[in-house]
Amino acid sequence: MLFVPVFEGTDALEDLPGLDAATGGDISRARESSEFRARLYELFIARVTGGPYRAVRVALVGAGPREDADAERLRRIAAACSYTARIRSMRSAAFVVRVGLDPVRGAEIGADGMTAAEFDTGTYKSDRDAGEFPERIVIVSPAADPAALAEAVFRGQTLGASSNVTRALANEPSNVLTPRVFAERVAAVATDVGLQVEVLDEQQIRDLKMGLLLGVAQGSAEPPRLVVIRHDPPGAPETPVLGFIGKGITFDTGGVSIKPADGMERMKYDMSGGAAVAGAMRALALLKAPRRIIGVIPMAENMVGGKAVRPGDVLTAASGTTVEIINTDAEGRLILGDAIWYAQELGATHLVDIATLTGACMVALGRTSSGLFGTPDAWVGTVQNAGTVAGDRLWHLPLHEEYRELLKSEIADMLNSAGRWAGASTAAMFLREFVKDRPWAHLDIAGTAWAEECRAYQAKGATGVAVRTLIELGLRTEI
Ligand code: BES
Ligand code: MN
Ligand code: ZN
Repeated sequence: MLFVPVFEGTDALEDLPGLDAATGGDISRARESSEFRARLYELFIARVTGGPYRAVRVALVGAGPREDADAERLRRIAAACSYTARIRSMRSAAFVVRVGLDPVRGAEIGADGMTAAEFDTGTYKSDRDAGEFPERIVIVSPAADPAALAEAVFRGQTLGASSNVTRALANEPSNVLTPRVFAERVAAVATDVGLQVEVLDEQQIRDLKMGLLLGVAQGSAEPPRLVVIRHDPPGAPETPVLGFIGKGITFDTGGVSIKPADGMERMKYDMSGGAAVAGAMRALALLKAPRRIIGVIPMAENMVGGKAVRPGDVLTAASGTTVEIINTDAEGRLILGDAIWYAQELGATHLVDIATLTGACMVALGRTSSGLFGTPDAWVGTVQNAGTVAGDRLWHLPLHEEYRELLKSEIADMLNSAGRWAGASTAAMFLREFVKDRPWAHLDIAGTAWAEECRAYQAKGATGVAVRTLIELGLRTEI
């Protein structure tokens, strides 16, 4: 099946000469009669009855307006094609990169989307009938240089597969994916691609005096972990050293400040930031990123129990900062505080943390964009651009100095929660306290890491958001 994205409005398909004739004029008939209007993900399938095309069928896929064809849109279209091929049990599928798009980037994005669609959500179903993906996928591109094209396809496959590694981790139930198991799984992902990885156990975390990570973990029967992944390519410059820090709460009950029962099951995804760091590091190793990168993932389970941290308790961070706990459900910022400190101890010069941090961010931006915070503005801009290129929507939200006052404690250096208003910004402000005078950006993916509905281009569940942004930062972005 030959998949051809068709743009809304005038799109004469001049780069596919004879295609209409090969379908006996079915394509032009469908377009003239408005049976097929090229609305996004709309599908029209015709039989190829003659002409130079080797495909048995051609599938026109609505691509929406040409001017909206950014990376995210194209990846979704490619993924939708891959799903269609599976539903129809096609053995072999080809995806056309249309003329007018960057032929090499288009091939990368096409391969990425087709690969991402192979994500398996049914690992716990005993009766599975999801259809089978094509044995063979071909990317058709007008690119002039076959070597560049082959590289682009490899990159795309690596991006798609790595984001699927992230999604598989985030989808895992919390009884399976405890902090210990999460650490083992991440270590396996990392060592498989030749990365150096270190798993710190509870005693080592205690030796580092990470009172915030330990405080969150103390209510759980499962001990915390801290995973450090290093990409240190030979010949890489001393600096910059990127530091990616991902929240790894394997389940968030809220602790003593317990969450309502309704929807709590979703909180198994509260390690999506950590999983994104693991997936991105995997891709960066496979793609031989030319710079040094450190991934730090603090892992813990936020539980209720006789040993759990209480509201009013004071914890001391590895940095020495003391924190008065107001709400035990504001746990992500605590474990990140210690991890951000540690990434800097290990030499990270440019920081990006990524976390399902606040419901407030979801209230502000919904499920369409992640919140972006940080300092200085130049670094925020760099991360924002990487997101645009990668096809992750990031929206810059403010860090006004006034927010810091809301975190003032009577007895400690800081509160861990400033209540409802500007909740995403005050959470980011808390994190800023652990950043020592170097570029730092924070991505709040609470709304974007999980898809509540199945779409033409994506299964319900973990989305792998921000994996590609991190890869872009490690691979191609100028820093
Ligand atoms: N993991 C949650 C964030 C979250 C909440 C994501 C709802 C998706 C949906 C985080 O640990 C949390 O509980 N944050 C609190 C902070 C508050 C207590 C200051 C929140 O957003 O309610
Ligand atoms: Mn919480
Ligand atoms: Zn949480």
